[in-house]
Amino acid sequence: MNQPHIIDLAKILDKRGNLSFFENDNQIPFEIKRSYWIYDVPGGEHRGGHAYKTNREFIVALSGSFDVVLDNGKEKKVFHLNRSYYGLYVPEMYWREMENFSTNSLALIVASTDYDEDDYIRDYSEYTEKINNA
Ligand code: TYD
Repeated sequence: MNQPHIIDLAKILDKRGNLSFFENDNQIPFEIKRSYWIYDVPGGEHRGGHAYKTNREFIVALSGSFDVVLDNGKEKKVFHLNRSYYGLYVPEMYWREMENFSTNSLALIVASTDYDEDDYIRDYSEYTEKINNA
């Protein structure tokens, strides 16, 4: 399903503390090429503000909470991430913002491609033009 959706991860409950995981090409629908994380976000800051031409991602709130706003040029959907046992799958060509980061929140993102600035669309009108001509 190449639509944004929440993917639930296994949750191994344990009196000593819980554990969740994902594996390459298993729980998430792509092969992981890259991981990065976003942290120490000052109150009120936004991240994102771009789309990727080919890169697909899976985003987990390892700690705290934040909103991921996805826009496909027609409608916007807000996904509130606040647990480490599920994440959001984001297909290519969705305009993405991340906002409302709680104090000490930590976003883990795994990506289907290596970092490539040429894969970014950072201009919203260029994005809508591309979507409408697709
Ligand atoms: P960017 O993807 O614009 O951040 P966000 O979407 O969270 O606002 O990246 C910010 C900067 O970090 C940009 O200069 C590129 C660099 N960067 C890398 O070098 N490697 C990476 O894997 C990522 C995601 C970003």
